[in-house]
Amino acid sequence: MRVTIAAVVDTCETSTPNRLSPPVVRSPKLVQGVGFAFFRRKAMQRWIQRHGRIFEINIPFFGRSIVVSDPDLVRSVCTASAEQLANVQPNLGNWFGPGSVFGLDDSTHRERRRLLAPAFHGKSLHSYEQVIVAETLRECANWPEGQEFRMLEPMNRITLNVILRTIFGADGPELDTLRALIPPYMKLGQLIAFVPAPPSWARRLGPWGRLDKLRATFDRTARTLIAAAESDPGLADRPDVLAFLVRNGHDDGAEMSRADLCDELLTLICAGHETTASALAWTFERLRRHPDVLVELAKEVDDGGGEFRRATIAESLRVRTVIDVAGRRVRAPSADIGDWRIPQDRTVLVRIADLHGNPDVFSHPVRFDPDRFCGTKAAAPTWLAFGGGVRRCIGADFAIAEMDVVLRTVLQNFRIRTDAAADEKSHFRGIAHTPKLGGRVTVNRRK
Ligand code: HEM
Repeated sequence: MRVTIAAVVDTCETSTPNRLSPPVVRSPKLVQGVGFAFFRRKAMQRWIQRHGRIFEINIPFFGRSIVVSDPDLVRSVCTASAEQLANVQPNLGNWFGPGSVFGLDDSTHRERRRLLAPAFHGKSLHSYEQVIVAETLRECANWPEGQEFRMLEPMNRITLNVILRTIFGADGPELDTLRALIPPYMKLGQLIAFVPAPPSWARRLGPWGRLDKLRATFDRTARTLIAAAESDPGLADRPDVLAFLVRNGHDDGAEMSRADLCDELLTLICAGHETTASALAWTFERLRRHPDVLVELAKEVDDGGGEFRRATIAESLRVRTVIDVAGRRVRAPSADIGDWRIPQDRTVLVRIADLHGNPDVFSHPVRFDPDRFCGTKAAAPTWLAFGGGVRRCIGADFAIAEMDVVLRTVLQNFRIRTDAAADEKSHFRGIAHTPKLGGRVTVNRRK
């Protein structure tokens, strides 16, 4: 199959007469919207069966949208330039504010990524390891032995504390305020992230009013921490992300405004913890049901290795995809995805979960089998847990390193009981997918 994506003007159509429009799902928009919002996995399976791995749906907020889950077509989407496929509309800039990287496009987006990326990979990751170990040990100190409990909330506390300390450095009363504020902000915000905001006179009412109040407290607290960092005589030696942004916080030569900095700090906190916590909860959910994998992991922890653990993390992110969709919008007069021609303004949704479940790509795709990633890198276009191309997740390395350290620390200290419990279903929180029962496990402390 030809896999080029090119901006083409309408007049070119005669030179490529074979280009087709993707098949269209014909049921009423409301039915498609309900399927997409509430029964996504089943609806997608039915549409894929009927139309193949590229088709068009029409859904609230995103309108006419091309859904893709074939690896060659996904590669086309990932390698497209921002001039061809731009940021999806609406996007999470709705929720975090116009200064968030999620809302930016083109050169401002590139500049912002250039600014943020060094804080989340390479050398920087090493300095966060001690924080991750300490937060994991603190959280699991009181885990009940021999009694089943949900992993999701402990994992959320660990990842929230880790991201807060990574971003702001030393603990203090402001971090206590954020610790209390972020969970309700996340819970509510995810549900209305893509819903158009009501006019300002109506905004004080309902969920937007509650979200605005939490946001005002966040901004006050963040501004206190920013001011403290700016006047800190030790700023040059601080390893936290805020210190890094205050030292280097220039977008295209201009200093980042306070409002943009607040939007970005909130973005990193929210994007950077619940996703990772959900992925960890899914990993424990899988391990409970896979004694062979657990035995091998425990042995590797004792021997001091890590390859199988990282393969387990990649497999868990594949088989239980936390963020199931990555979106773009056709900006060029039209864009070609494989043999298909997509007109301007269409949304393009890469269905990551269906790519990961594609039997042509992964044999026995429902099987949890970390060996598939031993000696092979989990990477685009077949493995897309962190999206791809110019908008690939900024925190991917950070998230994998964090999952690795948390998993290692838990396995060093606990044995996880295995049994034949039924798989937990998936619960969609608005953006992330979590185990419906919270990833229940029973543990015993290792002697
Ligand atoms: C297991 C954990 C995580 C998963 C599964 C995940 C997944 C994703 C996905 C699928 C995207 C969209 C990519 C695209 O559109 O192609 C994304 C974007 C993003 N993620 Fe993550 N993420 C995780 C952890 C993190 C962490 C730890 C951070 C920050 C510390 C983070 C920050 C971001 C940001 C800022 C973006 C927007 C990038 C842009 O638009 O340029 N994520 N993530």
